[in-house]
Amino acid sequence: MKRVLAFAKRFLMPHFRWLVITFITGLITAAVSGLGVPLMVKFVFPIVFYAGDGELPLLMQYIPSLQEMSHMTVLLLACASMPIIFAIRGVAMWANHVVVNILGLRILESLRKTVFSHVQQLPIAYLEGQRKGDMVSRIVADTGNVQNVLSHVANDLVKQPITCLCAFAAFMYLLFSTGSPEMAIVLVFIGLAAWPVISFGKRISLRAKRAQAELGELNTVVQQNLETQREIRAYALEEREIADFVSSSQAYKHNMTKLVKYQRVIIPIMETVTALALAFLLVAGKNSGMGLEDFLALAAAMFFTFDSLKKAGQAFNRLNEAQGSLTRLEDVLAVDNPIADPVNPVPMPAKVKGELDFRNLTFAYDTGKPVLKDINVHIPAGQIVGLVGPSGAGKTTFASLIPRFYEATEGCVCVDGIDVKDVTMHDLREQLSIVGQQALLFSGTIRENIALGKPGATAEQIQAAADAARVSAFLDNQPQGIDTQLGQGGAGLSGGQRQRVAIARAFVKDAPILILDEATASLDAESEREIQQELDKLAQGRTTLIVAHRFSTLRNAHRILVFEHGRIVGDGPHEELYATCPLYKELFDRQGAV
Ligand SMILES: Nc1ncnc2c1ncn2[C@@H]1O[C@H](COP(=O)(O)OP(=O)(O)O)[C@@H](O)[C@H]1O
Ligand SMILES: [Mg+2]
Repeated sequence: MKRVLAFAKRFLMPHFRWLVITFITGLITAAVSGLGVPLMVKFVFPIVFYAGDGELPLLMQYIPSLQEMSHMTVLLLACASMPIIFAIRGVAMWANHVVVNILGLRILESLRKTVFSHVQQLPIAYLEGQRKGDMVSRIVADTGNVQNVLSHVANDLVKQPITCLCAFAAFMYLLFSTGSPEMAIVLVFIGLAAWPVISFGKRISLRAKRAQAELGELNTVVQQNLETQREIRAYALEEREIADFVSSSQAYKHNMTKLVKYQRVIIPIMETVTALALAFLLVAGKNSGMGLEDFLALAAAMFFTFDSLKKAGQAFNRLNEAQGSLTRLEDVLAVDNPIADPVNPVPMPAKVKGELDFRNLTFAYDTGKPVLKDINVHIPAGQIVGLVGPSGAGKTTFASLIPRFYEATEGCVCVDGIDVKDVTMHDLREQLSIVGQQALLFSGTIRENIALGKPGATAEQIQAAADAARVSAFLDNQPQGIDTQLGQGGAGLSGGQRQRVAIARAFVKDAPILILDEATASLDAESEREIQQELDKLAQGRTTLIVAHRFSTLRNAHRILVFEHGRIVGDGPHEELYATCPLYKELFDRQGAV
């Protein structure tokens, strides 16, 4: 409850104005329902049925001018009061509904933005450990659940108790002005109505959390399935995939079924209790010789008391339901990024020279086992350095420490003598381009994909980059040339073409430091040879780290670092290493033999 309140404060308060309008419209609805209807029955109906003899109806006694009007006018006025009251109630309900939804959508927007923005700066290591589909579910579905509750429940938790109080006030007034005291026993029934709300709350929040987790699982299955369709078809894994899907789907159904049952259990109990109370009232009223209109007014007041209690109970249940989603959001929001911008960042030159230093560097992933140990390397600006070594030796990790994707456990990484921890991430990453094994393209045009390298790049710069990366060479075959739309991940282009677009992006960015991590590994020999030329051109004049899977990609390297089990066991030009470093010789000869 406390956490819901903290959340409410954070996300409701910015929309205070809408909140106030929500309350006011809710208040009108509540007052008209709780007081208006019972009192109308009590005061207006007697006028309608007044036959002209006997005691004057109360309202005519209070408002003498009514006595001077003709019988027909009074009758019309009396009858008109009913549609008027219901029209006010209806308009207030409508306005309330609209405002609650506007409020809700505003909350949802800021809630999603908060979570999504938070995800943007979470540690890469954390995100890599998460299932993507579940993350999507949290950002889209769980935020929706919380919003639903914050807006509707915030409204109901005010409106319903007020309706209840108004109706209860009307009930007490009618009871003591017209009924008999023993009828007050009906109040016991109100207590009876409260227990299902309390006793089912915990179970509801538990089931809600499980259902949301299964929804996340379901999303994960679908997402992974769509991303790996080729493998699924090739290995005939369709049945397995369907089984996974059905299993999550069933678990979701199971939890939701329980949830719905628990949530609605309040309805039969409430209705039965209401009917029991009415029956009791009827007997007691009959015994004390109560008139019809008094009884009807009393029944209406009682009905609204119980009805609003029921709705408040349901709102309370939804609060419990949202608790599940809230926990899932908090889990994400509570993750801090240990890799943050420094409080007083050192300004970085607009363009660094590109000198790299790794000093006494040790690094371990969350698993704790050091992946890089005691690394001391100085790379002068403009040097082209190859990184070789068996798979898992730590080459990619080594290169990932320069953009500060991960934080050095001990020691430091410096660019132009400035520790990467002392500058802002933005300034640091301006200085480097990375081309990985799989070119990561976004949906959008080829031009947009290249332009991502440098916001505000001119058409000439984009064209020059496209020429340099020889993207231009395959544009003729594209339906709209450089403005051809690509699917997600660059669908529509071959692997080599995608890689060229990624290289063009690096050309446009024109950063002084370049990291090529097995940039041609996924290409066939033919494409690799072609792209190698563009990469060589790109590396010219930049500090370049080339993680190599084939030695042929290292022909321009000034220097090679040999990695083994997280240590650098060889450092020098090819000839020297071939003569002095057994591991290097072994790796090189093995490939030469292929
Ligand atoms: N995100 C990660 N979490 C935990 N361990 C990792 C992670 N990424 C890589 N490793 C481990 O770190 C070691 C070095 O990996 P990596 O730098 O990718 O090697 P290379 O690029 O030389 O093949 C490997 O043993 C690998 O299992
Ligand atoms: Mg690697």
